[in-house]
Amino acid sequence: MFKALLINSENDRPQISEISEDVLRQDGVLVKVEYSTLNYKDCLAILHGKPIIRKYPMVTGIDFCGTVLNDSSSEFKPGSEVLMTGFGMGEKFWGGHSELASVDASFLLAIPNGFTMKNAMQCGTAGLTASMAVLKLKDFGLTPDSGKILVTGASGGVGTISILILKKLGFHVIGTTSNTKNFEFLENLGVEEIIETSTLNSVKILDKQKWIGAIDSLGSKALVGVCACTFAGGAVVACGNAQGIDFPTSVAPFILRGINLFGLDSVYQTIANRKRAWNLLAECLTDNDLDNISTEHQFKDILDLAKRLIENKVTGRLVLRMQES
Ligand SMILES: NC(=O)c1ccc[n+]([C@@H]2O[C@H](COP(=O)([O-])OP(=O)(O)OC[C@H]3O[C@@H](n4cnc5c(N)ncnc54)[C@H](OP(=O)(O)O)[C@@H]3O)[C@@H](O)[C@H]2O)c1
Repeated sequence: MFKALLINSENDRPQISEISEDVLRQDGVLVKVEYSTLNYKDCLAILHGKPIIRKYPMVTGIDFCGTVLNDSSSEFKPGSEVLMTGFGMGEKFWGGHSELASVDASFLLAIPNGFTMKNAMQCGTAGLTASMAVLKLKDFGLTPDSGKILVTGASGGVGTISILILKKLGFHVIGTTSNTKNFEFLENLGVEEIIETSTLNSVKILDKQKWIGAIDSLGSKALVGVCACTFAGGAVVACGNAQGIDFPTSVAPFILRGINLFGLDSVYQTIANRKRAWNLLAECLTDNDLDNISTEHQFKDILDLAKRLIENKVTGRLVLRMQES
C-alpha cells in the first residue's frame, strides 16, 4: 500500500488515501517518489478539478523525482535517480503527489548533472518553464546589451526562477509584483527595478517603451501592458494566466512596433528541449539560490498549501517531501 492525493470523481474532494500497488500500471517504470512540488496548475487541479483533470479517479501532481525500483523496459537501472514533469501527468494519468508512481520510460529524465533530486523539484515545471522562456529570448537574439527584461508575477515560481537565470546571464531585470511586501525579496534576488503589477493594467495600447524583452506569467490586462511598453522589435514570451486567460488588446504593438509575441508550453516539449532547459537551470542555479526561493513541506500539508498558493499567499516555490521521515 502507498499514500497518494486521490480525487475519485468530479464531485469528490481530494484526499490523501491508501492505495494498493496493484492498481498502478504494470508496464511502466516504478519509482519511489522522494520529492514533488506544488505549481499553480497543481493547485487548480486540487481545488477545482476541471479543466485540468481530464479523467477520474486521478492522483494529482505534474512533477516528481525519485528512485527507480523496477523498470520493465530496462532503460533505467534500479536505484537510478529520475525526474518527471508534465506530459499530462496529474491530468490524464496519475501524477507525483504520491509515494509511488509508475510512468512511461520515454517521459523520464536523469537528474541533471550538478543537481540533487531536491534541486530538481525546487525548480519543477515552473523552473523548466522559466528556463525555456529565457532560452526563447536568447534564441531570438537578446543579450544583456540589447536592453532591460521585464518579468511579471515576479515573486511566483516562474517569476523567481526567470529572474535568477536572467541575473546569472547578466541581464538588467525589471520585476512586477502585486504586493509591495515582496519588494525586499525581489531586491535580494538582484532585480534592479520593481513596479506594481496594477500599473500594467492601465497603460495605453501603445505606451512609453521600457523593456526589450519580457517573460509574462499573468496574461489578461497585464500582458496587454507588457506588449504596450515593449521596445520596437522586442520579444515577449507569454507563459501563464495567473491574472486571467483573456488578452484584450489591439494589433497595434505588433504592426506599428513589430514586437514579437511567443507562446510557451513546457508540458509537451521534446526530451531534447527539456534537457537543454534543465542543463541551463543546473548551470545557473546554486543550492543557495534555490534555498532562497523555496520552502520544503511535508506531503500531509498539501491541501492547506494549495489553498495558500491560489490565494497568492506564497512567495517562490513549494517543495513536498513525499516519504514520511
Ligand atoms: N506555459 C506553461 O507551460 C506553464 C508552465 C508553468 C506555469 N504556467 C503558468 O504560469 C503561471 C505562473 O505559474 P507559477 O507556478 O509560477 O505560479 P505562482 O507560483 O502562483 O506564481 C504566480 C505569481 O503571479 C502573481 N499573481 C497571482 N495571482 C495574481 C493576480 N490575480 N493578479 C496579478 N498577479 C497575480 C503572484 O506574483 P506577485 O505576488 O509577485 O504579484 C504569484 O506569485 C500560471 O498561470 C501557470 O499556470 C504555465
